[in-house]
This record gives sequence, structure tokens and C-alpha cells, in this order.
Amino acid sequence: MTPTEPHADATTRVLGIETSCDETAAAVVTGGNDVRSSVVSSQVDIHARYGGVVPEIASRAHVDLLTPVIAQALVEAGMADGEVDAVAATNGPGLVGSLLVGVSTAKALALVWGVPFVAVNHLEAHLYATLLEDPSLELPALVLLVSGGHTLLIAMEDHGRYRLLGSTVDDAAGEAFDKVARYLGLGYPGGPAIDRVALDGDPTAIAFPRAMRGDGFDFSFSGLKTSVINHVRKHPEATTADVAASFQEAVVDTLVDKARRAAREMGARSMCLGGGVAANSVLRERFLSACVEDGFHGFLPSRAMCTDNAAMVAAAGWWRLRADGPSPLDTGADPNLRLPLAG
Ligand code: KG4
Ligand code: ZN
Repeated sequence: MTPTEPHADATTRVLGIETSCDETAAAVVTGGNDVRSSVVSSQVDIHARYGGVVPEIASRAHVDLLTPVIAQALVEAGMADGEVDAVAATNGPGLVGSLLVGVSTAKALALVWGVPFVAVNHLEAHLYATLLEDPSLELPALVLLVSGGHTLLIAMEDHGRYRLLGSTVDDAAGEAFDKVARYLGLGYPGGPAIDRVALDGDPTAIAFPRAMRGDGFDFSFSGLKTSVINHVRKHPEATTADVAASFQEAVVDTLVDKARRAAREMGARSMCLGGGVAANSVLRERFLSACVEDGFHGFLPSRAMCTDNAAMVAAAGWWRLRADGPSPLDTGADPNLRLPLAG
């Protein structure tokens, strides 16, 4: 291949592999946005009894599940082994043991099939989950990326060109949902449980604090978690539904308020949501109304595309392959990998 030839085109079929946390996933995406298959095997039931993800158990489960999940993704895409043009895998951030399972498998397959290996940043993959479903999304876009490990406000100026506008100074939004749910006895994972229980509660019942609200674009959620605990201790009569709804309201208020201000300030043309917390029903509703009110093209990925999956890894891998070519085979797993920022 000459240096001027692109490394990926509309016919390039990428097998994506995702094992950064507790979902074992594989997918085939052609040309960066045509999802031919997407298989996700969740380990939620395995970890639920411990109240959270146990890293050692997660890595062992990935070892058991990944080969059948890849096989299923290839069968569903109607492809034989030799028909894959590149293999992309998340190499960070995430749990190191879990990442290693996906990265090593991807490299082995790439070597056996004689195709490029592409290392993918999990955060960049979440950004591509949005573009995958709405390729017409206009850039620059403001992306609110809210997951179990991250709360980021990102200016996506172009493919591969990001500026970080704000992030959490303590707990991630999803982590706050999980911790509060655990305290309220709602089980794991906490986000969907709070979302469900809050449907029967009054979001204005308790005025929980909106930390750092007027203060730049950073977030803080650990004080909110403490306020919930203190409130429940002082008011044992408060219903779980009211506490859950009021907590959720405080989180959503802060996220949407900062996202719309950031979008205005950066001169965004569109606003989109990403990450597991983007599956939250109140956040989705509020985010979309903010876009309509402020005149931004707003986009919400489907719930399946918000939580961890491999289609987003294959899509981000296709863009990385096109821009940078294959990753060296000595690229390792990096549990603390950051989003590659412009400038
Ligand atoms: O992106 P993701 O699947 O994994 C990470 O990369 O962290 O996000 C998982 C997080 C968990 O904290 C989970 O509680 C949260 O997303 N989550 C939700 C909802 N669904 C998942 N949080 C609020 N409301 C939901 N409906
Ligand atoms: Zn994620």
C-alpha cells in the first residue's frame, strides 16, 4: 500500500472487540458505519452478587466468553474467518486484566488472518457510537460522555480532533448512580435501577445540591452522594422513589446545564450524548429539549449503543485505521489511557 492510499475504505470490514469492563462484545462493521453484527454478552449477573465488578472474575469471564462471542458476531455478519479486513480492540481505559484478554485475542487473530490490528481508545469508541447511528451529525459537536468511569464534556472538532472542556473532579456520574443505588438497596448496576424506581417518585421532593453549577465546566458528584446518605439518615420516612427521583434530578440538571453552556461557548453545531448513563430516560428527555430550545442539532444514540458494545469499537477502529494505519503489534493495554486531545 502506498502512503497516499487510504488504509480503510467503504468496503473495509472491521471486527471490533470490547472487553474493557464487564461486557464481552464483538461486532463486524463495514466502511465505518454499516453494522453487520453486534453481539454483547453481559457479565452483570456474575458481578451482581458482589455489588460491583470484581476485576479478577471479569478477566476470567472474558477468557471464557470472547471466542464464542466473536464466532457469533462472524456468523451473524455472514462472514468466514478470512473475510475480515482488520481487527480492532479496546486497549484502554479499563480494567487491565480484562483489556489484555481483548487486545491479545485481537492481535492473535490479526496475525493469523494476516490483517491489520488497530488499538482503540474506549472513550473515542463511545464518541463513535453516536456517529455510527447518525453519520449526518454536523461537526463541531459538543459531546457529553457519561459512563461508570468518566464524565466528560468534549468538543469534537473533527474526526480524531478533540478538546476536553470539562470533567469530574471526583466521582463519575455513573459511579454516583451506582453508589447511591447500592446505599438505597437497589442493587447493581445502579443506574437502570434508579431510573426505574424514580418513575414513581417526585423529583422536586428533596432539594439536593447542584455542586459547581455556575463554576466552569467541571463536575463534582461525591458531595451529592453524601447529601443523599445524610438525608436518608435524618429522614427515614422519605420514600426510596422520592430520594431516587430527586437525586436523579440533581445529576441531570447539572449535566444538561453545563452541556448546553459548553455547546454555546464552543460554537457547536450539534450536541450529542454518549456512555452508559446516556441510557437514562430523564437525561435523554432533558438533553433533547435543551437542544431544541437552544437550536442545536441534537442526537441521542439508541440505548444499546450507549452502553459498552463492540460496534462502536469497530467504527472507531475503521476511522483510526483510515487516518493512522495499523497499530504496532507491541501496543499494550493501558488502564489509564486518555482521550487523544488536539493541540
Ligand atoms: O459506558 P458503560 O456501559 O461502562 C463504562 O464504560 O463505564 O456505563 C456503565 C454505567 C454504570 O455506572 C451504569 O449504572 C450507568 O452506566 N447506567 C445508567 C443507566 N444505564 C446504565 N445510569 C443512569 N441511568 C440509566 N438508565
Ligand atoms: Zn464505556
